[in-house]
Amino acid sequence: MKVLVIGQGGREHALLWKIKQSPKVKKLYSAPGNGGTAEIAENVPIKADDVNSLRNFCEKEKIDLTVVGPEMSLTSGIVDLFKEKGLRIFGPGKAAAQLEASKIFTKELARNENIPTAWFEIFDDAKKAKDFIKSKSAPIVVKADGLASGKGVIVAKTENEAFQAVDKILVEKAFGSSGDKIIVEECLEGQEASIIVVSDGENIVPLASSQDHKRVFDGDKGPNTGGMGAYSPAPAVTGEVFNNTISRIIKPAINGMKKRGIPYKGVLYAGIMITNENPKLLEFNVRFGDPETQAILPRLNSDLLELIELSMEGSLGNYNLKWKKEACVCVVMASGGYPGKYEKGKEISGIEKALELEDTLIFHAGTRLANGLLTNGGRVLNVVALGENIKNAIDKVYKACGMIKFENMHYRKDIGHSALRS
Ligand code: AMP
Ligand code: GLY
Repeated sequence: MKVLVIGQGGREHALLWKIKQSPKVKKLYSAPGNGGTAEIAENVPIKADDVNSLRNFCEKEKIDLTVVGPEMSLTSGIVDLFKEKGLRIFGPGKAAAQLEASKIFTKELARNENIPTAWFEIFDDAKKAKDFIKSKSAPIVVKADGLASGKGVIVAKTENEAFQAVDKILVEKAFGSSGDKIIVEECLEGQEASIIVVSDGENIVPLASSQDHKRVFDGDKGPNTGGMGAYSPAPAVTGEVFNNTISRIIKPAINGMKKRGIPYKGVLYAGIMITNENPKLLEFNVRFGDPETQAILPRLNSDLLELIELSMEGSLGNYNLKWKKEACVCVVMASGGYPGKYEKGKEISGIEKALELEDTLIFHAGTRLANGLLTNGGRVLNVVALGENIKNAIDKVYKACGMIKFENMHYRKDIGHSALRS
């Protein structure tokens, strides 16, 4: 089979690495890919949001299967576009991708299907939103309805902060039409985790639990990022939490989508908040998590391509995945200044040495091959290690990180520590 993976981050490198292990694969392509994907696939210089060019490429090269990394391609309808031409692609169509593209769609689904989630109200009028906020008390959460590159959620500690968030989204239109409507919702407290499943529209197969670290600095300080690290499994997800997430959140959502005539086929990522062993839904994403995928896939023994094909054929049935017992930790090495302004083109050294360490993998994100390997983005490398437990994986991963150098690099030194506490 010829397989294309769309995207250019660490998630996509990890997907390619895992898919390559399938005996069915003859040739792999990556669009646009990065310096690491170039070593295991052919990089095709087409951006992830250029869906028409991607379709033309797949027709011309007779690609047998396309796997999509980033949400933008999915929410813009790449799956529908490919299917019109009879091209095989894994992921939800535009209508089902509303689970990520519209927070209001998801909250209303949750309300109708009795999925536990924070209480909420929807507004398109700033004054009414503020009156509602006044009638409740801070902390409170304000969210833009649509996609906003992860910046559309404001967890407001004070009433004033919440008012500012309302103005920013509804009046100043900081996120354009993604902010035509907002949600004001209850601020939940507890431990966050992610449960990612693959669905065929009816059945689901869960992946191992995981947890990411969104803030840039140690101790969860500083601004939010695309993710500075992750680990799997997440000890906060006990057997009970896992079962409750599947039975009360994931299954009702999959059934609800089927009832609405938009069966959900693809990866469904539930971000949950766990309070007293009780999971509540924070958000759905319609894709693999980044960097969670980099910590999950190294633990998977089963054939990912087989799982994907069964999902597309609607025959997941009681398919069971096989997992390694080891835990996995992923540390993101970032460019100086990230998540703000940063420079590109810095030389990266030490990767080969780090890869000689046992149970260590490196998935590239913002890198490119020129004369040597250069930085080419904010998040540069995902350093990953498997260990007999999280503590052991942490020790190994930081040993590897210590061998890698590029000018002004920075990375968190406490990835996985929250797993040791819970
Ligand atoms: P979302 O994109 O909706 O998952 O929100 C991004 C982040 O904001 C989440 O990962 C949480 O850390 C936080 N968050 C979102 N909704 C809530 C909530 N209702 N209560 C507390 N924190 C929240
Ligand atoms: N790590 C969070 C996400 O992929 O959305």
